[in-house]
Amino acid sequence: MRKVMEFNTGWTFYKDIGSKSSGMPEGEAVDLPHTYNGIDGQDGGGDYYRGKCLYKKSFFKSELPTGELYYIEIGAANSVAEVFLNGKSIVTHKGGYSLFRGNLTEQLRDENELIISVDNSHDDSVYPAAADFTFYGGLYRYVNVIAVNRTHFCLDYYGGSGLMVTPRVEQNGYSVEMKAFVDNLRGDDKISFAVKDADGKIIKTDLGKNTKLSFHLDSPRLWQGLADPYLYRAEAAIIRDGREIDKVETSFGCRSFKVDPEGGFILNGKRYPLRGVSRHQDRPTIGNALSYEHHREDMDLIKEVGANTIRLAHYQHDAEFYDLCDRYGMVVWAEIPYISKHRPEGRENTVSQLTELIVQNYNHPSICFWGISNEITMSGASDPDLIENHKTLNDLAHKLDDTRLTTMACITMCDMDEEYVHIPDTVAYNHYFGWYGGDVSQNGPWFDSFHEKYPNKPIGISEYGAEALDWHSPTPKQGDYTEEYQAYYHERMLEQIIERPYLFATYVWNMFDFGADARMEGGDNGKNHKGLVTFDRKYKKDAFYIYKAYLSDEPFVHICGKRYVNRFENPTRIKVYSNREKVELFYNGITLGEQTSDNHVFSFDVPNGGETLIRAVSGELSDECVIRKVNEPDPSYVMKEQGAVLNWFDVEAPEGRFSLNDTVEDITATIRGKLWALKMVRQIKRRMAGEAGGFGLNEEMLKMMGGFTVLRLTGLMGAAGVKFSKEELLRMNSELNRIKKPKG
Ligand code: GCU
Repeated sequence: MRKVMEFNTGWTFYKDIGSKSSGMPEGEAVDLPHTYNGIDGQDGGGDYYRGKCLYKKSFFKSELPTGELYYIEIGAANSVAEVFLNGKSIVTHKGGYSLFRGNLTEQLRDENELIISVDNSHDDSVYPAAADFTFYGGLYRYVNVIAVNRTHFCLDYYGGSGLMVTPRVEQNGYSVEMKAFVDNLRGDDKISFAVKDADGKIIKTDLGKNTKLSFHLDSPRLWQGLADPYLYRAEAAIIRDGREIDKVETSFGCRSFKVDPEGGFILNGKRYPLRGVSRHQDRPTIGNALSYEHHREDMDLIKEVGANTIRLAHYQHDAEFYDLCDRYGMVVWAEIPYISKHRPEGRENTVSQLTELIVQNYNHPSICFWGISNEITMSGASDPDLIENHKTLNDLAHKLDDTRLTTMACITMCDMDEEYVHIPDTVAYNHYFGWYGGDVSQNGPWFDSFHEKYPNKPIGISEYGAEALDWHSPTPKQGDYTEEYQAYYHERMLEQIIERPYLFATYVWNMFDFGADARMEGGDNGKNHKGLVTFDRKYKKDAFYIYKAYLSDEPFVHICGKRYVNRFENPTRIKVYSNREKVELFYNGITLGEQTSDNHVFSFDVPNGGETLIRAVSGELSDECVIRKVNEPDPSYVMKEQGAVLNWFDVEAPEGRFSLNDTVEDITATIRGKLWALKMVRQIKRRMAGEAGGFGLNEEMLKMMGGFTVLRLTGLMGAAGVKFSKEELLRMNSELNRIKKPKG
């Protein structure tokens, strides 16, 4: 029988191997999971260590379980890894998010030294090469050693388990096909198959020479998303002389789905609009080295918000997380990190990463979509090699799995008529109207125009969102990073989404704040703060609750702006989110009356004097907070940039003249302003030309960012490697000061 031994303790870690000319650096004792970018990958500056490190572990063969063959199994190593046993290379792997294995047997001695080199340096042939998240290096999942008989379920095919289960709806039930992949099968060996229900009751068995079994299940209990994510268990064993010599098992679920371009997602014959969130896999200080408890906590929060679908962006997530999705009933969009910029030298890598994603996750009923790329056309969509690459991936996904649909996330600037947009079965757009520019109200109409032009193409929203930190304002504005603007933005987005049932899936970017070391934004560098929940998972921002109000059946009332305690304005507005019909608000015990709402938002104007206890009540449910009257607006609620080259209050802004504190939109609405902006675009483009992995910048992109002030925009450019000195900014400001604002 196969035996699996965890190999997670007792490693020595050596950092920065590549650049050491003489001898080994000093080692550090570590256990797995481990990343070497837990701190520097989230502190801003885009300067986290990217290079080659080693993990070393010595062991005696006698410590291992007995077997005829020994495999090493690595949950993930970001991003290029090579395994050496006793000085001999065993396996090389490119791609930081998928499982891989290597056969140790031939090199195994009584005393052994195992070394795994892990390298997260920039490499154009491995995706992701450029993207808005930190590529934490390390052995950040787990390592196992698997001892098996020479005859065993295949361990050599793209990290697959050796057992594929395919349930398909047919007349009066489901057909189920089980396929086992066995290495070194002998003449008399047999394969036994068993299927059990969730209580462990056997519902089908078979024993024979065949490595395949097909059977019919009469009216199985279906996997019904959140309502009833019912799972069966499938097992396969190799039997020799009446004894099991290897065994594998997996869960599977019976469900059918399709996407109707008009009616959206249909699960088991019923409309099931997919409304959910995206997730990245990292946390403060530990980066991507997560434990099962972390995954579980993420899933509980996603369930609480009422999502029924998750886009697991922008790479393959931990196997445990897909298991959780099966068990919780989340519909999943799974994807590979073919992102930001097409690179001809990366084609092979897109193929291997997609093959691994599908082979390793084929049995999960939660997965319905294979995502083949994200915002890949930052530098244009017409490259024939890019189009070819997408066709190859699309065909590959269908060849490996004819039960699921392909999809992709396009960037705003990509024209809907581009050939590449129409390659996958379904398509979605990342739109940030209302954050990076434009107005939040533009989102719905954009999708209507796509839907009208391409009524047969299922369309969804792969990303939308706005950043929020602990900044507050009674008059929130786009780009101010306040919790209030984020909440307002999502209220408007939900109204537009709910009215458009043709959107087969919609995903908030993002469920959680995440590490993106190149970002210098919102006063907390190194992170993207579009989460509905903070990076440490400890605080649910107000926007979390507007989703809960729309999507969840769990009754609640939530007072918004609890962190906005010191208020200058009188009266002050208190918003309550609830999925109840009526909410009554009290201040210091005095009622302001009961309100009804058809959009889950209840707004009350509350007298603000001294200290006020606010209480929202709906039946037996209630929520409370305290606000305090202050004589000046509290400056601690206004965003302060961390390490900013220039702060907004240092900018000279003469009356009637533009300055760095004006928005791109306003400036470019004047002729002189437009000329100035074009000059700037040319300058920035010149600078970006030299940036490895830099993003393409076009006027469309600048237009998108129109809602931001020029100052904010120069800060955002840091993510693309373009930095401005204080002198340069002051020079830009004096140029702007020369341009008159239009009157009125
Ligand atoms: C992009 C991208 C994300 C990124 C997001 C953002 O569209 O796909 O990876 O984090 O936008 O700007 O927040």
